[in-house]
Amino acid sequence: MRTTRFVSGLLLAGALGLTGLSASAVTPAELQQNFDAAARAGVPGYTGFSAQRGRQFFNSTHGNDWSCASCHTQDPAGPGRHAKTGRDIAPLSPVANPQRFTDPAKADKWFSRNCNDVLGRPCTAQEKGDVLAYLMSLGK
Ligand code: HEC
Repeated sequence: MRTTRFVSGLLLAGALGLTGLSASAVTPAELQQNFDAAARAGVPGYTGFSAQRGRQFFNSTHGNDWSCASCHTQDPAGPGRHAKTGRDIAPLSPVANPQRFTDPAKADKWFSRNCNDVLGRPCTAQEKGDVLAYLMSLGK
């Protein structure tokens, strides 16, 4: 049940949306707390997130053609480019793009889609937290 806390966070964000408050009411650090709670509940031997592990994960392929960097580049504080369509992608790091990781539903949707493309499965809470730790560490 490791996603329970995260899911209830999403439900809460959804409910806030319905009551007219912005669903974009979280900070990247708050989103990270959801991943932390999920990893604590579900990942055996979990000892926290690692920006270095996130960087490695982000730049590596995982059995398919693409890595995260294929579209978001090895410098995700800068603009990206979709590997298939060639369309511009705004910087993924919240350090460079304050809108990133402020909408849990959006982050969840794109983690699902992109992890599925890159890994052929959903990312774990550990992987998501490591990637977010990496993205938050850029420019520091
Ligand atoms: C085939 C191209 C492609 C690949 C590969 C890819 N992404 Fe993305 N990603 C996108 C696009 C397109 C968007 C949505 C457009 C946007 O928000 O700028 C996006 C958005 C996101 C978002 C939404 C962030 C937010 O809150 O706005 C996250 C998280 C994300 N990607 C993570 C990843 C991770 C992690 C990987 C590797 C497992 C990955 N992406 C690989 C194309 C890609």
